[in-house]
Amino acid sequence: MRCVGSDARSRGGSAGLPAAGRPAAGRPAAGRPAAGRPAAGRPAAGSEDDVLRRVSQVVLAVASQRSTRDVLQMIVRSARSLVKARYAALGVPDDRGSFAEFLVDGIPERQRADIGPLPRQHGMLGVLLHEKKPMRIADIRADPRFEGWPPGHPDMSDFLGAPIRDGSDVLGIIFAACKRGPGGFSERDEQLLGLFASHAAIALTSARLYQRGRELSVLEERARLARELHDAVSQKLFSIRARVRAAEVLVWRDPGRAVAEMESVAVLSGQAHAELRAVIDGLAPPDLTAGGLAASLRSYAVLAGRTYGAEVTFHAAPRLPALGAQRETAVYRVAQEALHNALRHSGATTIRMSLSATRRKVVLQVTDRGRGFAADAPAGGLGMASMRERAASAGGTLTVRSAPGEGASVRLELPA
Ligand SMILES: Nc1ncnc2c1ncn2[C@@H]1O[C@H](COP(=O)(O)OP(=O)(O)OP(=O)(O)O)[C@@H](O)[C@H]1O
Ligand SMILES: [Mg+2]
Repeated sequence: MRCVGSDARSRGGSAGLPAAGRPAAGRPAAGRPAAGRPAAGRPAAGSEDDVLRRVSQVVLAVASQRSTRDVLQMIVRSARSLVKARYAALGVPDDRGSFAEFLVDGIPERQRADIGPLPRQHGMLGVLLHEKKPMRIADIRADPRFEGWPPGHPDMSDFLGAPIRDGSDVLGIIFAACKRGPGGFSERDEQLLGLFASHAAIALTSARLYQRGRELSVLEERARLARELHDAVSQKLFSIRARVRAAEVLVWRDPGRAVAEMESVAVLSGQAHAELRAVIDGLAPPDLTAGGLAASLRSYAVLAGRTYGAEVTFHAAPRLPALGAQRETAVYRVAQEALHNALRHSGATTIRMSLSATRRKVVLQVTDRGRGFAADAPAGGLGMASMRERAASAGGTLTVRSAPGEGASVRLELPA
């Protein structure tokens, strides 16, 4: 069966493509594999050299940074040329029964607009998608599964299609219609189309991986921000709440102390604001930039102890090696969280915090003798995960020791 011209019309549902390919100048007689007769310095269309040239162009495009759409368009164009079809198309299905991407070669833009919306995933395209096998048909219109052409669609007879597969997943389909010249599509055409389908599979898989990578980094960034906000601001908000409660109780009994509590609420909320700013701007904690690690931890210990009505002792080795801003931030944040956990959860009245150093390492330790907890059980909050994450990203180790009734100790070791 021969393909009918691009101006023929019929009615119906779905199948393929649009039309009107012009034979390229210097092309050998249609339907016969050309014997390498070069036209204007290029290998003759369909010759072994031409196949090699086009395939290698596609391989280079797949490996390059070009957009997936451009690469797929090049694949459709090369496939159409090599199998000597009037039309070719490549479709990537979406999950709503249509195509997320549908690239056509061989139909002028004008005519494409006449055909209207993208095809649906039924008719022969649906068969190709679901059967996951190549399809070579002399007259598509004679197939019982054919559902007709939409208005404006060129009439087609011979059809060659291949699924674009990644293992058993079908990522898309590529197909050609209307072989130029007699005899319809050959076994070799089928192999060539299969080759382009596998290149398209690589292009689509790497685009998916790239997309997934980006999604993962968005998720990671979101988790990082949640940790930053937790570490930087939520403890301060806890403290503010505790102080407001205290002021509530004191306001009638001891107005002077209530005023003092409210003053520290003002200080703490100023600090929370500064911390929030630092998180937003991606900076180190403001305390740390102002006074160095040991001094900041000392004043933090005093402030936190006062807020919770507990005694927090702090000892620092006289000489500590410089750790650099990023690792000092990690130590500071771990200390804050460990201290707050002890203050909020342990019920202990005394908490010890220390910063010591040997030639090889710096060690932060926060210990309480409170009610303890099952340290190997999964933690419900963000704090434990955040401490571990910070220890790891600073190249250190975090050890949490605790058992019910036996207090708790958090130890962070960083190589000096
Ligand atoms: N020093 C401690 N003494 C007793 N229990 C503790 C101590 N440290 C942690 N825990 C227990 O471990 C749990 C998990 O701690 P984690 O810091 O991950 O979460 P959180 O403090 O409850 O909430 P968040 O830190 O997200 O505000 C706590 O809820 C608490 O039950
Ligand atoms: Mg916590």
